[in-house]
Amino acid sequence: MKTERPVIFSGIQPSGILQIGNYIGALRYFPLLQDDNQCLYCIVDMHAITVRQDPAKLRHNSRSLAALYLACGIDPKKSIVYIQSHVSAHAELAWILNCFTYFGELSRMTQFKDKSAKHADNINAGLFTYPALMASDILLYQAKAVPVGDDQKQHIELTRDVAIRMNNIYGDDLFIVPEPLIHKTGSKVMSLQEPTRKMSKSDADETFVSMLDAPEIVKKKLKRAVTDSLGRVTYDAQNQPGVSNLLTIISSLTNKPMDALVASYEDKGYGALKADAAEAVIETLGPIQAEHARLMNDTAALDAILKGGAERANVLANRTLDEVKRRVGFTAR
Ligand code: TYM
Repeated sequence: MKTERPVIFSGIQPSGILQIGNYIGALRYFPLLQDDNQCLYCIVDMHAITVRQDPAKLRHNSRSLAALYLACGIDPKKSIVYIQSHVSAHAELAWILNCFTYFGELSRMTQFKDKSAKHADNINAGLFTYPALMASDILLYQAKAVPVGDDQKQHIELTRDVAIRMNNIYGDDLFIVPEPLIHKTGSKVMSLQEPTRKMSKSDADETFVSMLDAPEIVKKKLKRAVTDSLGRVTYDAQNQPGVSNLLTIISSLTNKPMDALVASYEDKGYGALKADAAEAVIETLGPIQAEHARLMNDTAALDAILKGGAERANVLANRTLDEVKRRVGFTAR
């Protein structure tokens, strides 16, 4: 598949309302890439059902995530915004990639281990082969780079391994081998209550700030964020994970360099740090929430955007899928 500009692909699961880690680690970069690249931003509902979802909520969350993408500055005239299940090539290529992905590789995925521990009553085959579907998402569009948070690095490495494996068998020009785009600051925002674990939208409510939390809730959650008893504001993720996490949140959202930020707390305490973190979050989320609410009031317009996105994505995806089918030896229809 040849496109003029480099292709960027990323996706987020509509498995609940996003938390600020999703924004800081991934979503905030999405609009910044759309002028120089052909970006595809997908709402990965097929990934979401690897964990049991309420159908009505899933439908709502998929639209809500689309609105959030747009509210964060993704422009549907520049980027392709669509829902994964609207492009059947994702499932078709995933099957083929499954046949080139080893059991041992999938068994080593930390997300699989974490999620199977969390959902011990539903360790389904989809949860296990999830990385092959993710590889399909990326490889279908010949993406060069994938903006993600730190926790997706392993999945992208597997995507690369599978792409290289198939290129070795079927020709080097079959797939572009993608690179992860992971930024140094903010690629792993930690839980507010257990700052040695990453912030996750599937954990208890007080451990994360949701992107749709009202200002009072943001203030309350950050005020209660776990720190330590050392009483000094330094960036030391090992010994002061809670304080360092709050610094990361502020630095990411205000673009203040970490050194200057830390220096500004020389004679201030944790109360000021928490208040500043709350302010940075509220300032960032205010305009996004307002635009999100506006877009959710006009679901017909939102659905039209998603329909247009799926049409464009289908064309691109089928080019790769047809070529893969041909090379693996499927007969033409
Ligand atoms: P998901 O939906 O769990 O998360 C979406 C994005 O947010 C990042 N992220 C974080 N970044 C920093 N700190 C955190 N605490 C934090 N929590 C989440 C994730 O790294 C991700 O970039 N498998 C993916 C979705 C996916 C995908 C893809 C991504 C499916 N197909 C293809 C890229 C390309 C996932 O579960 O992300």
